[in-house]
Amino acid sequence: MDKAYVSKITATTKAFKAGKYKSFDKAVAMMFLENSTRTRCSFELAAKRLGLDVLDFKASQSSFSKGETLVDTLHNLYFIGVSAVVIRSGEDGLFERTLSQLKYPIKIINAGEGTTSHPTQALLDFVTMSDKLGNIAGKKVVIAGDIKHSRVAKSNVEVLKMFDADVHLCAPAQFRDDTDSIWHDNLIDAITGADVVMMLRCQNERHKSSGMSEDFLLTSQKLEKYAPNALLMHPGPVNRDVEISSELLDGPKGLTILEQAQNGTFVRMAVLQEALHD
Ligand code: CP
Repeated sequence: MDKAYVSKITATTKAFKAGKYKSFDKAVAMMFLENSTRTRCSFELAAKRLGLDVLDFKASQSSFSKGETLVDTLHNLYFIGVSAVVIRSGEDGLFERTLSQLKYPIKIINAGEGTTSHPTQALLDFVTMSDKLGNIAGKKVVIAGDIKHSRVAKSNVEVLKMFDADVHLCAPAQFRDDTDSIWHDNLIDAITGADVVMMLRCQNERHKSSGMSEDFLLTSQKLEKYAPNALLMHPGPVNRDVEISSELLDGPKGLTILEQAQNGTFVRMAVLQEALHD
């Protein structure tokens, strides 16, 4: 992703939200090697809205179990007639390795890779912030929680910096990494005066560290006192009463989190169109 790509996807997303799109006579496969609700369903719906044939590639029923490699699988899918494969994987570096080995022009679209990247999430987050706040240059955007294991945090920092947002990260010591940003270890200090507060789930499936302390739970009381005008965001899935209290999530501020999911379908339509146009 570069600034021109993000701007193009944002503009196409706006056109799609206004109902302007054309149909494709192509096929796309969904290969989700890790579980997903939002990304999988919105990519599938996005593809169907664009008139694409959608194949549900089920890894457990595929020839992976017979030792076929991902690259060989992608080559075969290309010759079968698949133009693009949307892949989610828990493996860091999978996309770079796979791209370097592909011999045929099948497109691969990143639907979340390990702890490293989730570009379409960052795109839909950017669209959501831009819709609500306009230009995000200079806006204080706080991302708090398990940053170390969060692909969402990495991709969001990348996009937010392209557009000159004032990015702050907040995590306890065990969930920090070397991401270049302004770091905080106290949630109150971090969110004070924020324009956006994006809370993250503790990625328990990726580590054996103890969970998040209650100091990192965002409640209505904390948000109203320290960042009363902030947009509340979360990529989902939310662990209720761990990173966001149920009363905050179920109140008016929690609606933006569902609007993020809603924007996801349009953003993924734009990403598919960009990948598949002739
Ligand atoms: N935000 C996100 O990637 O959610 P899913 O894992 O449900 O797709």
